[in-house]
Amino acid sequence: MCGIVGYIGSNNAVPILIEGLRRLEYRGYDSAGIAFYEDGNMVLKKTVGKLSNLESILREREYESHLGIGHTRWATHGRPTEVNSHPHCDCYGKLMVVHNGIIENYSLLKKVLISEGHIFRSQTDTEVIAHLIERYLNNGNLSEAVRRALCEVEGTYAIAVISSSNPDTIVAARKGSPLIIGRGDKEYIVASDVPAILNITKDAIFVNDNELVVIREDGTQITDLKSGGSREEKIYQIPWDPELAEKGGYAHFMLKEILEQPQAVRNTFSGRINLNKDKIHWEDLDFTVEELRKISRIYIVSCGTSWHASLVGKSMIEAFAKVPVEVDLASEFRYRMPLIDDNTLTIGITQSGETADTLGAIRKAKEEGSKILIICNVVGSTATREADGVIYTHAGPEIGVASTKAFTSQLVALYLFAGYLGRAKELISYSAFSRIMTELASIPKKIESILEKEEEIKRLADLFWEKRDYFFLGRGIVYPIALEGALKLKEISYLHAEGYAGGEMKHGPIALVDKDMVVVALVPHNSVYEKMLGNIEEVKARDANVIAIADEECEEIIEKVDHVFCVPKTSDFLSPILFAIPLQLFAYHIARNRGCDIDQPRNLAKSVTVE
Ligand code: AGP
Ligand code: GLU
Repeated sequence: MCGIVGYIGSNNAVPILIEGLRRLEYRGYDSAGIAFYEDGNMVLKKTVGKLSNLESILREREYESHLGIGHTRWATHGRPTEVNSHPHCDCYGKLMVVHNGIIENYSLLKKVLISEGHIFRSQTDTEVIAHLIERYLNNGNLSEAVRRALCEVEGTYAIAVISSSNPDTIVAARKGSPLIIGRGDKEYIVASDVPAILNITKDAIFVNDNELVVIREDGTQITDLKSGGSREEKIYQIPWDPELAEKGGYAHFMLKEILEQPQAVRNTFSGRINLNKDKIHWEDLDFTVEELRKISRIYIVSCGTSWHASLVGKSMIEAFAKVPVEVDLASEFRYRMPLIDDNTLTIGITQSGETADTLGAIRKAKEEGSKILIICNVVGSTATREADGVIYTHAGPEIGVASTKAFTSQLVALYLFAGYLGRAKELISYSAFSRIMTELASIPKKIESILEKEEEIKRLADLFWEKRDYFFLGRGIVYPIALEGALKLKEISYLHAEGYAGGEMKHGPIALVDKDMVVVALVPHNSVYEKMLGNIEEVKARDANVIAIADEECEEIIEKVDHVFCVPKTSDFLSPILFAIPLQLFAYHIARNRGCDIDQPRNLAKSVTVE
């Protein structure tokens, strides 16, 4: 899940590489390193810990280079030590490699290379790539040496390679891990993700699996890794401004992204709904009405927060379009036997479009004959390029590891799609369609009014942050939001938090409830409101501290709980969006009180590009 970057051009590569790594640091932050070519010498600088440690080392003097590569690591093989950090080099330190992925047959290759006399320094899988390339570099043709080396490795990779034998070239390649190239004016930047190229250019070329790219100042050449055949390069215009990927004065990206939600969700639906024409306009979704009508079963595959959005999506689609929906964790779906036929649609939901498990699941569904729809935030990402149709969430870059605005935008995208499918199947009348879309248009303002009450949530966090155990309870449409509230708290504050359907408490979890437990109960006024009040009674009777998130400040809730936070009223299917927001803020302020590293929590990475 590391981030890789490479630069070639007339500007100084060193600050560009560091800035690129800074924008990729969310992908991994165990250690960081860069290698660059300066005055005929290969310079390698790497260190454990955050990028700031590397920056301190580089302050020793002014470096000047026009070619270099960099890496920010999330270790898979070998502890996060200086020697294991990337770039890795050949025996003589003349050839440098950065890698994102896992080389599965590395131990075998390492044994052979050692028997041939290669000297290994690290415990990583990556180092074999450097020595394999070295083995084939005899005639000085770097791209051919990389090609031959990669033919021997099994596993996943996005790599960038430089060598003093070819000081005018970066060679990059990918199989299973993301890789994009930013094309500037006589300069190129290669990186794992879009934010890293934005300071140089918005013109991006997406490298496909099994492709190798030779990058020089005056151009790039993309070829098939095995056959060597070249392909035309399609340039994508990235619609994001560089400032969107900046913290812009906020203490954390997570807070900035929480506060951006009114605009982010507006971007998901604006320009798409045309009530006069009774239509939703999609840019990249051109299923015909006949194709939509034929859909008789839907699978939704996803991971983590995107999986929680999928659970809400199931209720929306089943209600609006009356199609049975199964929601699967992508990591499970890929190893089971789903029942797919010509009328099956599989929806992959992924903020990044690069999550390995989700890609594995949609590939499996495709192989079995399913049509694929992707709901994604990153234009041109791998998942979107493999799909039959794409709905972009347009939430803007999400950098904080804890997903917030991408989640609420996914909910909006699912809502739009459910309404669209319901209309295509003629199961929703025009007036009902118009009503549900009009209600959606009021959501950004309602989110704003919740955000204005951030202080209230902060006060609750100040009261409870020293507690160690939290239950989040919800029923029906907000049950997935209880799961999401617990996940947010777990991942950024390292506290024990679990989400449960209210009715499940009595089947076991209630045994854990005592005076030290904090219970956050989600209580929208819907068909299961009374049931939820019953669940609150149950935990209160066992002395739990109860915070209710409600959409009406009525006496019966106030009497039963210790604290109430109110969100505005909306329709049942949109209520998950509003209920999610106080939980994001609650997790944020608890983590802040606990002094946690909010944007880069331990053991996690933003894009999980390994299985
Ligand atoms: C969310 O806060 C998490 N960091 C994580 O669960 C994330 O949602 C998951 O890894 C899926 O990512 P994706 O949406 O980019 O596929
Ligand atoms: N396997 C490599 C390492 O551990 C790269 C890890 C990754 O991409 O997550 O250094």
